[in-house]
Amino acid sequence: MLGSNRTGMALVHLLIVCCVLLAGCSREAAAPADPRPEADESRSPDLPSEAIAGEKRRIVLGFSQLGSESDWRNANTRSIREAAKEADIELLFDNAEQSQEKQIEAIRRFIERKVDVIAFAPVIETGWEDILTEARQAGIPVILSDRAVQISDPSLYVTFIGADFYEEGRKAGKYLLDKKRNDPGPVIIAELQGTEGSSPSIERGRGFRDIIRERPDMNIVYSAPADFTVEKGAEVMRQFLRESGGEIDVLFAHNDDMALGAIEAIEAYGLRPGKDIVIISVDGTRKAFEMMVEGKINCVVECNPLLGPILMQAVREIYEGRTLPKRIVPPESVFTEVLAEKEVANRQY
Ligand code: AHR
Repeated sequence: MLGSNRTGMALVHLLIVCCVLLAGCSREAAAPADPRPEADESRSPDLPSEAIAGEKRRIVLGFSQLGSESDWRNANTRSIREAAKEADIELLFDNAEQSQEKQIEAIRRFIERKVDVIAFAPVIETGWEDILTEARQAGIPVILSDRAVQISDPSLYVTFIGADFYEEGRKAGKYLLDKKRNDPGPVIIAELQGTEGSSPSIERGRGFRDIIRERPDMNIVYSAPADFTVEKGAEVMRQFLRESGGEIDVLFAHNDDMALGAIEAIEAYGLRPGKDIVIISVDGTRKAFEMMVEGKINCVVECNPLLGPILMQAVREIYEGRTLPKRIVPPESVFTEVLAEKEVANRQY
């Protein structure tokens, strides 16, 4: 299943249009909280002055980004900033530097400032119930961006816009089954997980395992979190190589940054990434594509960070009182060495 990024972007736009149409068709199902300002006078002292433009003031969005740990994350931040500008939405942006506590504080500040909509990319899955209840009590609708949360009452958020991480893990597993279809086992796999307790790490790991289960001679022997960063990826890979004496057949890295770090470690150990060790990664950054062109990464499962336009469209729809689908998944592909050279120029991040 190979695809081009240009086609992907066209599909993103199509998806937005579909969401608008869907929303238009489903007005009878009310959004969980009334997002409209009750009266501008009661809200205006708390809002930035440029947000008030006579009758038609700009929508104010509070966005809590979880950090800046990876190239994917930085592309996601850029996409959100640019799309807010494009959509003429006032963006209050906060970078929580991987801290759930900071994210909760930022969301509380957004509530105090009476923003119109809150969106956030939750660093981990659990622990959001109380702050989301505070947002609901304040009548502010919440959008989950990129990552999921585990909560008993899903009506605490309006919609979740982000990739299907479980499917990404399955795609990685399917690539491996295919790559090793003629190789007799055993196949020793090392896994670099992302941030502990985060939805991409949990779900990619689960999807991958569900697929490779088909080959009982494929075993994940080494597995540890490496925080989605280059540095941690290199450090944990060095440790895997020491423990295994270099006896590793496959590396499944939950993101490109960790794969890049691991490649440095593998080369320093005297092995050839992409040849001695098959490398499968997730995201689809330009740097990972360059590594694929060099034959050092074998497969990249795409995870689309360009969520800004979909997010802004959703913010506007909610503000205007429309209903959105509970789940919005951007289109994504799988890329292998075979097409890397052709695709590398199309990468936008
Ligand atoms: O939540 C998406 C993941 O977070 C991306 O795969 C990773 O690169 C990022 O840090």
